[in-house]
Amino acid sequence: MEVNFFLLLLSLLGLVSFLKRSFSLLHWLYASFLRHPKDLKRVYGPWAVVTGATDGIGLAMSVQLARRGMHLVLVGRNSGRLKKATEHILARCGDAKVRTVVWDLAEDAAGGGGAERLREAIEGVDVGVLLNCAGVTYAGAAYFHEAEERVWREVVKVNVDGTSHVTRVVLPKMVNRRRGAVVNVGSASTVALPSFPLHAIYAATKAGCGSAVLGGGRGGAAPQSRGADALSRCGRATSVLVGPTGHGLFDVETVVSAYG
Ligand SMILES: NC(=O)c1ccc[n+]([C@@H]2O[C@H](COP(=O)([O-])OP(=O)(O)OC[C@H]3O[C@@H](n4cnc5c(N)ncnc54)[C@H](OP(=O)(O)O)[C@@H]3O)[C@@H](O)[C@H]2O)c1
Repeated sequence: MEVNFFLLLLSLLGLVSFLKRSFSLLHWLYASFLRHPKDLKRVYGPWAVVTGATDGIGLAMSVQLARRGMHLVLVGRNSGRLKKATEHILARCGDAKVRTVVWDLAEDAAGGGGAERLREAIEGVDVGVLLNCAGVTYAGAAYFHEAEERVWREVVKVNVDGTSHVTRVVLPKMVNRRRGAVVNVGSASTVALPSFPLHAIYAATKAGCGSAVLGGGRGGAAPQSRGADALSRCGRATSVLVGPTGHGLFDVETVVSAYG
């Protein structure tokens, strides 16, 4: 029988591509639904620093961390909301220790004493996890030229400057201890969609944070990548991809606890 090598080669390429995609899907299913959650406290250390912890995903994840026996340092710009978040967490996990740090990541990411306050709050404690969850976007969809200067600048300040400054405070201790996990909360706007024209700056900031934490590796979507730069020396750098929540569609706390 005559063999058409061209067709054979194409079939082989198709098979390899199919297997690669199937493996990615199976790995995602396993990681999302079957794999046992890691003992974060033992693997990385007993304290977690969480930004954006006063609301939404950050608050829900703080509760989950506390349920796993972690103690928390909550970073936020408003002491009243930090107090409320602390009460919310302690009502669910009375054993957790919670410290709070007031730091407005839009107004004074670099100055204003926020970094110093965080440094003091984590003095002498073993911070194993940094969860960068603070994030803002425009109030509504808008083309870039329509977005107010003040608004898009705040998006860049909080999502990029703020995240970077907080990470710079926490990371050195992780590097010294050679363990730790940095998690930047990303967005589906960076990868699930080919472009996100009506939130362009927001999508850009989320892609940037993904790349930064992954050390130039794949941003946004990478579920559990090892950073390629200094981060890899302390353990794991992860950028998590988050789809839309809120708007009454999902209860954030339920979704976060379901994913563990
Ligand atoms: N919700 C979604 O559908 C969705 C989708 C994709 C990605 N994400 C990402 O997931 C993360 C959490 O989203 P979310 O919807 O749960 O957020 P959220 O409910 O709107 O809460 C935002 C958090 O960020 C804090 N924050 C805002 N500006 C700040 C500033 N200048 N300084 C310090 N903290 C500040 C807020 O603190 P205050 O209490 O002081 O306001 C609040 O704790 C964000 O990074 C977001 O980009 C969300």
